Amino acid sequence: MFELNGKVAVITGAAQGLGKHLALQLAKQGCHIVALDILEDELKTTAGEVQSHNVDCLALICDIGNEAEVQKSFEEINRTFEHIDILINNAFIHRRGAPETFASEDFDEVLSVNTRGSFLCAQACAKKMISEKTGGSIINISSIAGQSALGRGNIVYSMSKAAINQMTKEMAIEWAAYKIRVNAILPCQIMTAAVERMLSVLDAEEKVKTVERILDGIPLGRMAEVEDYTGIVLLLASPMGSMITGALIPVDGGNLALNAGGDPIIKTDNAAESRRYK
Ligand SMILES: NC(=O)c1ccc[n+]([C@@H]2O[C@H](COP(=O)([O-])OP(=O)(O)OC[C@H]3O[C@@H](n4cnc5c(N)ncnc54)[C@H](O)[C@@H]3O)[C@@H](O)[C@H]2O)c1
Repeated sequence: MFELNGKVAVITGAAQGLGKHLALQLAKQGCHIVALDILEDELKTTAGEVQSHNVDCLALICDIGNEAEVQKSFEEINRTFEHIDILINNAFIHRRGAPETFASEDFDEVLSVNTRGSFLCAQACAKKMISEKTGGSIINISSIAGQSALGRGNIVYSMSKAAINQMTKEMAIEWAAYKIRVNAILPCQIMTAAVERMLSVLDAEEKVKTVERILDGIPLGRMAEVEDYTGIVLLLASPMGSMITGALIPVDGGNLALNAGGDPIIKTDNAAESRRYK
């Protein structure tokens, strides 16, 4: 249905979490996978699971924050595959801190992986897509944080994702002539190691409050699971999404639709809730 059989998909940050899930879902559809990450053991596991779907997997240790490593990886990808059809820019790092004290080294590190690294991978893929005249689909994994403020020390992470949003639009219009579509997905909190890391630094009481606060902001009333991103990625990657480019697509249970002063009613059978309308 999605006509992805035989396509080549490059996924950054594919050793775990959302990146790994998407690599496996694309492999299930018959895509050959290039998995990039810095976690050697986890990446090997991803490669083994991808290959169990009878597709090729090129797994490369690559720090996308390092331009020489990105270049070297894409030289190897270009030697291995005749074309690249899909890129998922998913790898990221996070450094938390208040705006007034945020260290400039941490600032540079976050921007160099999240924004510059995604830019370099998109650039390398587009060069191949343009020279082979194949077109392609670039999917940037952004965040709700790129569009509205989260507080809680997220300033530089949010800035890195806001830059990815604008990069998405600029690339979409620059590369439309080459039939390269560029879109971004804006997830809310997904239950992966990244959220576990965020919650693990809080004490028990803070953890409960933070989870409640997050859930209050998601009208659908739950955090996301990696499975919630399969459909949108298959759509954007495939010819089914052939008219979609330059789009920033929230897949966030309604989070970005909700005004901070708004009030989602999750349980409508609760008598107390109905009083709100009087
Ligand atoms: N989990 C969430 O709540 C959430 C919410 C919104 C957006 N996102 C976005 O989803 C994407 C995936 O997040 P996740 O939750 O799966 O995170 P994760 O931490 O589980 O996985 C991220 C992967 O990126 C890899 N990585 C980190 N630095 C790298 C580098 N320099 N070069 C190559 N690989 C590197 C890590 O090793 C890891 O395998 C990210 O872009 C993140 O911003 C996540």
